[in-house]
Amino acid sequence: MTTQILDAFDIEKDSDSIDIAAKLLREGKTVIFPTETVYGLGANAFDESAVKNIFVAKGRPSDNPLIVHISDVKDIEPLVTEIPDILYTLAEKFWPGALTVILPKSQRIPYITSGGLDTVAIRIPQNEIAREIIKRAGVPIAAPSANLSGSPSPTTFLHCKSDMMGRVDAIINSFDSLVGVESTVLLLDKNEPRILRPGGITYEMLLQYLPNLQIDKGVLNIIADNEKASSPGMKYKHYAPNADCVLVKANTKSFCDFVKKEQQKDKNVYVICFDEDIEFIENNAISYGKVDDHTTQAHNIFAVLRQTNDIENISKIYIHAPSMNDVGLAVYNRLIRSCAFNITEL
Ligand code: TXA
Ligand code: MG
Repeated sequence: MTTQILDAFDIEKDSDSIDIAAKLLREGKTVIFPTETVYGLGANAFDESAVKNIFVAKGRPSDNPLIVHISDVKDIEPLVTEIPDILYTLAEKFWPGALTVILPKSQRIPYITSGGLDTVAIRIPQNEIAREIIKRAGVPIAAPSANLSGSPSPTTFLHCKSDMMGRVDAIINSFDSLVGVESTVLLLDKNEPRILRPGGITYEMLLQYLPNLQIDKGVLNIIADNEKASSPGMKYKHYAPNADCVLVKANTKSFCDFVKKEQQKDKNVYVICFDEDIEFIENNAISYGKVDDHTTQAHNIFAVLRQTNDIENISKIYIHAPSMNDVGLAVYNRLIRSCAFNITEL
Protein backbone atom coordinates (compact mmCIF):
# COMPACT_ATOMS: atom_id res chain seq x y z
CA MET A 1 0.00 0.00 0.00
CA THR A 2 1.28 3.49 -0.76
CA THR A 3 1.24 5.75 2.27
CA GLN A 4 0.70 9.43 1.63
CA ILE A 5 2.47 11.87 3.98
CA LEU A 6 0.53 15.05 4.78
CA ASP A 7 2.14 17.95 6.66
CA ALA A 8 -0.20 19.63 9.14
CA PHE A 9 1.19 21.96 11.78
CA ASP A 10 -1.29 24.81 11.51
CA ILE A 11 -5.05 24.65 10.99
CA GLU A 12 -5.14 27.59 8.61
CA LYS A 13 -1.90 27.21 6.66
CA ASP A 14 -2.28 23.43 6.34
CA SER A 15 -6.01 23.45 5.64
CA ASP A 16 -5.46 21.49 2.41
CA SER A 17 -3.81 18.58 4.24
CA ILE A 18 -6.66 18.55 6.74
CA ASP A 19 -9.18 18.43 3.88
CA ILE A 20 -7.38 15.53 2.23
CA ALA A 21 -7.20 13.59 5.52
CA ALA A 22 -10.91 14.21 6.19
CA LYS A 23 -11.84 13.09 2.68
CA LEU A 24 -9.75 9.91 2.95
CA LEU A 25 -11.46 9.05 6.26
CA ARG A 26 -14.90 9.67 4.77
CA GLU A 27 -14.01 7.33 1.91
CA GLY A 28 -13.16 4.48 4.29
CA LYS A 29 -9.37 4.92 4.31
CA THR A 30 -6.94 4.76 7.28
CA VAL A 31 -5.20 7.95 8.39
CA ILE A 32 -2.71 8.44 11.24
CA PHE A 33 -3.22 11.78 12.97
CA PRO A 34 -1.64 13.59 15.94
CA THR A 35 -3.38 13.88 19.29
CA GLU A 36 -2.13 15.47 22.51
CA THR A 37 -1.76 12.01 24.13
CA VAL A 38 -0.23 9.83 21.39
CA TYR A 39 -0.73 9.59 17.61
CA GLY A 40 -3.89 7.71 16.59
CA LEU A 41 -4.60 5.38 13.65
CA GLY A 42 -8.02 6.48 12.49
CA ALA A 43 -10.86 5.20 10.35
CA ASN A 44 -14.61 5.86 10.10
CA ALA A 45 -16.04 4.21 13.25
CA PHE A 46 -19.31 3.37 11.40
CA ASP A 47 -17.55 1.62 8.50
CA GLU A 48 -16.85 -2.05 9.29
CA SER A 49 -14.36 -2.63 6.50
CA ALA A 50 -12.46 0.59 7.28
CA VAL A 51 -12.23 -0.40 10.97
CA LYS A 52 -11.07 -3.89 9.99
CA ASN A 53 -8.12 -2.28 8.26
CA ILE A 54 -7.06 -0.68 11.57
CA PHE A 55 -6.83 -4.12 13.19
CA VAL A 56 -4.88 -5.48 10.19
CA ALA A 57 -2.45 -2.53 10.08
CA LYS A 58 -1.64 -2.84 13.80
CA GLY A 59 -1.79 -6.62 14.07
CA ARG A 60 -4.27 -6.02 16.89
CA PRO A 61 -6.38 -8.81 18.44
CA SER A 62 -9.98 -8.38 17.26
CA ASP A 63 -11.44 -8.45 20.79
CA ASN A 64 -9.52 -5.31 21.82
CA PRO A 65 -12.00 -2.42 21.33
CA LEU A 66 -11.17 0.96 19.82
CA ILE A 67 -11.75 4.46 21.15
CA VAL A 68 -14.19 6.53 19.09
CA HIS A 69 -13.10 10.16 18.68
CA ILE A 70 -15.58 13.00 18.20
CA SER A 71 -15.07 16.76 17.92
CA ASP A 72 -18.09 18.03 19.88
CA VAL A 73 -19.95 16.71 22.91
CA LYS A 74 -23.29 16.82 21.10
CA ASP A 75 -21.95 14.17 18.69
CA ILE A 76 -22.02 11.59 21.51
CA GLU A 77 -25.81 11.20 21.40
CA PRO A 78 -26.15 8.90 18.36
CA LEU A 79 -23.32 6.67 19.63
CA VAL A 80 -24.74 5.63 23.01
CA THR A 81 -28.06 4.51 24.52
CA GLU A 82 -27.66 6.30 27.86
CA ILE A 83 -25.89 9.42 29.02
CA PRO A 84 -25.50 9.79 32.81
CA ASP A 85 -25.70 13.39 34.08
CA ILE A 86 -22.13 13.18 35.36
CA LEU A 87 -20.93 12.84 31.74
CA TYR A 88 -21.84 16.47 31.09
CA THR A 89 -19.93 17.64 34.17
CA LEU A 90 -16.87 15.61 33.14
CA ALA A 91 -17.15 16.85 29.56
CA GLU A 92 -17.24 20.44 30.73
CA LYS A 93 -14.18 20.01 32.94
CA PHE A 94 -12.02 17.62 30.90
CA TRP A 95 -13.07 17.73 27.23
CA PRO A 96 -11.45 18.33 24.92
CA GLY A 97 -8.71 16.31 26.62
CA ALA A 98 -7.11 13.05 27.71
CA LEU A 99 -10.26 11.41 29.10
CA THR A 100 -12.13 8.50 27.50
CA VAL A 101 -15.50 7.43 28.85
CA ILE A 102 -17.15 4.05 28.38
CA LEU A 103 -20.93 4.00 27.94
CA PRO A 104 -23.51 1.53 26.56
CA LYS A 105 -23.21 1.59 22.76
CA SER A 106 -26.01 2.28 20.30
CA GLN A 107 -26.65 0.19 17.19
CA ARG A 108 -24.77 2.74 15.08
CA ILE A 109 -21.48 1.44 16.50
CA PRO A 110 -20.60 -1.85 14.80
CA TYR A 111 -19.31 -4.67 17.00
CA ILE A 112 -15.96 -4.67 15.19
CA THR A 113 -15.36 -1.15 16.62
CA SER A 114 -16.36 -2.17 20.16
CA GLY A 115 -14.41 -5.45 20.07
CA GLY A 116 -17.69 -7.36 20.43
CA LEU A 117 -18.70 -5.47 23.60
CA ASP A 118 -22.03 -3.71 24.22
CA THR A 119 -20.17 -0.60 25.36
CA VAL A 120 -18.23 2.05 23.46
CA ALA A 121 -15.24 4.18 24.48
CA ILE A 122 -15.50 7.87 23.49
CA ARG A 123 -13.17 10.85 23.67
CA ILE A 124 -12.77 14.40 22.32
CA PRO A 125 -9.05 15.08 21.74
CA GLN A 126 -7.56 18.43 22.63
CA ASN A 127 -5.24 18.59 19.64
CA GLU A 128 -6.78 21.12 17.24
CA ILE A 129 -5.63 19.37 14.10
CA ALA A 130 -7.21 16.12 15.30
CA ARG A 131 -10.49 17.87 16.08
CA GLU A 132 -10.54 19.69 12.76
CA ILE A 133 -9.96 16.46 10.81
CA ILE A 134 -12.78 14.71 12.73
CA LYS A 135 -15.10 17.68 12.23
CA ARG A 136 -14.45 17.90 8.50
CA ALA A 137 -14.70 14.10 8.09
CA GLY A 138 -18.25 14.40 9.46
CA VAL A 139 -18.12 10.92 11.02
CA PRO A 140 -16.80 9.64 14.37
CA ILE A 141 -13.26 8.33 14.06
CA ALA A 142 -12.19 5.04 15.67
CA ALA A 143 -8.52 5.30 16.57
CA PRO A 144 -6.19 3.21 18.67
CA SER A 145 -2.61 4.32 19.22
CA ALA A 146 -0.78 4.22 15.88
CA ASN A 147 1.88 1.66 16.85
CA LEU A 148 2.27 -1.97 15.87
CA SER A 149 0.43 -3.97 18.52
CA GLY A 150 2.71 -4.63 21.50
CA SER A 151 5.28 -1.90 20.84
CA PRO A 152 5.50 1.48 22.66
CA SER A 153 2.84 3.99 21.60
CA PRO A 154 3.96 6.64 19.08
CA THR A 155 4.43 10.19 20.29
CA THR A 156 6.17 11.54 17.16
CA PHE A 157 5.59 11.45 13.41
CA LEU A 158 8.81 9.44 13.01
CA HIS A 159 7.57 6.74 15.40
CA CYS A 160 4.43 6.39 13.24
CA LYS A 161 6.44 6.31 10.04
CA SER A 162 8.74 3.62 11.36
CA ASP A 163 5.85 1.34 12.46
CA MET A 164 3.22 2.08 9.82
CA MET A 165 4.73 3.12 6.47
CA GLY A 166 3.05 0.98 3.78
CA ARG A 167 0.37 -0.23 6.22
CA VAL A 168 -2.01 2.79 6.19
CA ASP A 169 -3.31 5.20 3.54
CA ALA A 170 -1.90 8.39 5.05
CA ILE A 171 0.18 9.70 7.95
CA ILE A 172 -0.07 13.29 9.14
CA ASN A 173 3.33 14.83 9.87
CA SER A 174 2.77 17.12 12.86
CA PHE A 175 4.16 18.10 16.27
CA ASP A 176 5.18 15.62 18.97
CA SER A 177 2.42 14.61 21.39
CA LEU A 178 2.34 16.91 24.40
CA VAL A 179 1.12 14.53 27.11
CA GLY A 180 2.96 11.44 25.90
CA VAL A 181 0.80 8.75 27.55
CA GLU A 182 -2.67 7.79 26.40
CA SER A 183 -5.98 9.01 27.75
CA THR A 184 -7.54 7.86 31.03
CA VAL A 185 -10.18 5.22 30.34
CA LEU A 186 -13.13 5.67 32.71
CA LEU A 187 -16.01 3.19 32.98
CA LEU A 188 -19.36 4.81 33.79
CA ASP A 189 -21.98 2.15 34.45
CA LYS A 190 -24.44 1.28 37.24
CA ASN A 191 -21.57 0.59 39.65
CA GLU A 192 -19.06 3.04 41.07
CA PRO A 193 -17.09 4.90 38.38
CA ARG A 194 -13.85 3.05 37.68
CA ILE A 195 -10.54 3.84 36.00
CA LEU A 196 -9.64 1.00 33.64
CA ARG A 197 -6.48 2.71 32.36
CA PRO A 198 -4.83 5.69 34.10
CA GLY A 199 -3.74 8.44 31.71
CA GLY A 200 -3.44 12.15 31.10
CA ILE A 201 -6.42 13.11 33.29
CA THR A 202 -5.41 11.87 36.71
CA TYR A 203 -7.23 10.01 39.49
CA GLU A 204 -6.74 13.09 41.70
CA MET A 205 -8.37 15.37 39.10
CA LEU A 206 -11.36 13.06 38.57
CA LEU A 207 -11.87 12.49 42.30
CA GLN A 208 -13.09 16.07 42.69
CA TYR A 209 -16.15 15.22 40.58
CA LEU A 210 -16.39 11.48 41.28
CA PRO A 211 -15.96 11.06 45.06
CA ASN A 212 -16.50 7.28 44.90
CA LEU A 213 -14.01 6.76 42.06
CA GLN A 214 -12.33 3.32 41.96
CA ILE A 215 -9.19 2.08 40.26
CA ASP A 216 -9.64 -1.27 38.56
CA LYS A 217 -7.53 -4.15 39.89
CA GLY A 218 -6.10 -4.67 36.38
CA VAL A 219 -4.40 -1.25 36.44
CA LEU A 220 -1.64 -2.47 38.76
CA ASN A 221 -2.01 -6.24 38.71
CA ILE A 222 -1.46 -8.96 36.20
CA ILE A 223 -4.66 -10.51 34.82
CA ALA A 224 -4.59 -14.30 35.11
CA ASP A 225 -5.44 -16.33 31.98
CA ASN A 226 -8.71 -17.53 33.53
CA GLU A 227 -9.75 -14.04 34.74
CA LYS A 228 -11.99 -11.65 32.81
CA ALA A 229 -10.32 -8.28 32.16
CA SER A 230 -12.50 -5.18 32.65
CA SER A 231 -10.73 -3.76 29.63
CA PRO A 232 -9.54 -6.22 26.99
CA GLY A 233 -6.38 -4.12 26.46
CA MET A 234 -5.20 -5.13 29.95
CA LYS A 235 -4.57 -8.71 28.85
CA TYR A 236 -2.13 -8.06 26.08
CA LYS A 237 1.62 -7.55 25.94
CA HIS A 238 2.20 -3.83 25.67
CA TYR A 239 4.68 -1.00 25.27
CA ALA A 240 7.64 -3.37 25.10
CA PRO A 241 11.02 -2.52 23.59
CA ASN A 242 13.04 -5.38 22.06
CA ALA A 243 15.29 -5.94 25.08
CA ASP A 244 14.00 -7.46 28.33
CA CYS A 245 13.21 -4.83 30.95
CA VAL A 246 13.00 -4.90 34.73
CA LEU A 247 11.21 -2.20 36.71
CA VAL A 248 13.15 -1.26 39.85
CA LYS A 249 11.44 0.42 42.81
CA ALA A 250 14.16 2.10 44.84
CA ASN A 251 15.56 5.42 46.03
CA THR A 252 18.36 7.13 44.09
CA LYS A 253 21.23 5.58 46.03
CA SER A 254 20.05 1.98 46.10
CA PHE A 255 18.98 2.16 42.43
CA CYS A 256 22.37 3.47 41.31
CA ASP A 257 24.35 1.01 43.48
CA PHE A 258 22.28 -1.86 42.12
CA VAL A 259 22.60 -1.00 38.42
CA LYS A 260 26.31 -0.25 38.69
CA LYS A 261 26.86 -3.76 40.05
CA GLU A 262 24.79 -5.22 37.23
CA GLN A 263 26.81 -3.23 34.67
CA GLN A 264 30.07 -4.53 36.15
CA LYS A 265 28.81 -8.06 35.46
CA ASP A 266 27.56 -7.20 31.95
CA LYS A 267 28.61 -4.08 30.06
CA ASN A 268 25.59 -4.31 27.74
CA VAL A 269 23.12 -3.55 30.52
CA TYR A 270 21.28 -0.24 29.99
CA VAL A 271 19.40 1.98 32.39
CA ILE A 272 16.32 4.18 31.98
CA CYS A 273 16.40 6.50 34.95
CA PHE A 274 15.86 10.01 36.37
CA ASP A 275 18.04 13.10 35.89
CA GLU A 276 19.13 12.72 39.54
CA ASP A 277 20.55 9.22 38.87
CA ILE A 278 22.66 10.16 35.86
CA GLU A 279 25.68 11.54 37.72
CA PHE A 280 26.05 8.29 39.70
CA ILE A 281 25.81 5.93 36.72
CA GLU A 282 28.78 6.20 34.39
CA ASN A 283 27.53 4.37 31.32
CA ASN A 284 24.51 3.43 29.27
CA ALA A 285 21.99 5.59 31.10
CA ILE A 286 19.08 7.49 29.51
CA SER A 287 16.99 9.84 31.61
CA TYR A 288 13.23 10.28 31.19
CA GLY A 289 12.90 13.31 33.49
CA LYS A 290 13.43 14.46 37.07
CA VAL A 291 12.32 12.11 39.83
CA ASP A 292 9.36 14.27 40.87
CA ASP A 293 8.42 15.57 37.41
CA HIS A 294 5.80 13.07 36.24
CA THR A 295 4.65 15.37 33.42
CA THR A 296 8.08 15.23 31.76
CA GLN A 297 8.38 11.50 32.46
CA ALA A 298 5.05 10.91 30.70
CA HIS A 299 6.11 13.09 27.78
CA ASN A 300 9.39 11.17 27.27
CA ILE A 301 8.80 7.58 28.29
CA PHE A 302 7.62 6.02 25.02
CA ALA A 303 10.31 7.79 22.97
CA VAL A 304 13.00 6.60 25.39
CA LEU A 305 11.71 3.01 25.28
CA ARG A 306 11.81 3.13 21.48
CA GLN A 307 15.30 4.67 21.50
CA THR A 308 16.66 1.50 23.14
CA ASN A 309 15.70 -0.52 20.04
CA ASP A 310 18.48 1.25 18.11
CA ILE A 311 21.21 0.22 20.58
CA GLU A 312 23.27 -2.71 19.39
CA ASN A 313 24.00 -5.66 21.71
CA ILE A 314 21.78 -4.32 24.47
CA SER A 315 21.19 -7.24 26.86
CA LYS A 316 18.83 -5.91 29.50
CA ILE A 317 17.25 -2.64 30.66
CA TYR A 318 16.69 -1.62 34.27
CA ILE A 319 14.05 1.09 34.59
CA HIS A 320 13.80 3.30 37.67
CA ALA A 321 10.12 3.22 38.70
CA PRO A 322 8.24 6.52 39.17
CA SER A 323 6.03 7.13 42.19
CA MET A 324 2.35 6.56 41.60
CA ASN A 325 0.78 9.95 42.29
CA ASP A 326 -0.76 12.17 39.58
CA VAL A 327 0.30 11.22 36.03
CA GLY A 328 3.02 9.01 37.61
CA LEU A 329 0.31 6.34 37.98
CA ALA A 330 -0.11 6.26 34.18
CA VAL A 331 3.65 6.09 33.62
CA TYR A 332 3.96 3.29 36.22
CA ASN A 333 1.03 1.42 34.63
CA ARG A 334 2.76 1.51 31.20
CA LEU A 335 6.14 0.51 32.62
CA ILE A 336 4.92 -2.59 34.49
CA ARG A 337 3.64 -3.77 31.12
CA SER A 338 6.85 -2.83 29.26
CA CYS A 339 8.58 -5.01 31.85
CA ALA A 340 6.02 -7.83 31.53
CA PHE A 341 5.37 -7.40 35.31
CA ASN A 342 9.03 -8.09 36.07
CA ILE A 343 9.39 -5.83 39.13
CA THR A 344 12.16 -5.63 41.74
CA GLU A 345 11.86 -3.69 44.98
CA LEU A 346 15.11 -2.74 46.73
O1 TXA B 1 -5.07 8.65 24.19
C1 TXA B 1 -5.66 7.69 23.69
O2 TXA B 1 -6.58 7.12 24.27
C2 TXA B 1 -5.19 7.23 22.30
C3 TXA B 1 -5.44 8.36 21.30
C4 TXA B 1 -5.16 7.96 19.88
O3 TXA B 1 -6.73 8.87 21.47
N1 TXA B 1 -5.86 6.03 21.92
C5 TXA B 1 -5.59 4.83 22.51
O4 TXA B 1 -6.29 3.76 22.01
O5 TXA B 1 -4.79 4.70 23.41
P1 TXA B 1 -5.89 2.24 22.27
O6 TXA B 1 -6.76 1.46 21.39
O7 TXA B 1 -4.44 2.07 22.10
O8 TXA B 1 -6.33 1.97 23.74
C6 TXA B 1 -7.70 1.89 24.07
C7 TXA B 1 -7.88 1.17 25.37
C8 TXA B 1 -7.60 -0.32 25.24
O9 TXA B 1 -6.91 -0.75 26.39
C9 TXA B 1 -8.99 -0.91 25.18
O10 TXA B 1 -9.04 -2.24 25.66
C10 TXA B 1 -9.79 0.06 26.04
O11 TXA B 1 -9.24 1.32 25.78
N2 TXA B 1 -11.21 0.08 25.64
C11 TXA B 1 -11.75 0.59 24.51
N3 TXA B 1 -13.08 0.39 24.48
C12 TXA B 1 -13.40 -0.23 25.63
C13 TXA B 1 -14.63 -0.73 26.19
N4 TXA B 1 -15.78 -0.61 25.53
N5 TXA B 1 -14.58 -1.33 27.40
C14 TXA B 1 -13.40 -1.47 28.06
N6 TXA B 1 -12.22 -1.03 27.58
C15 TXA B 1 -12.21 -0.44 26.38
MG1 MG C 1 -2.54 1.33 22.36
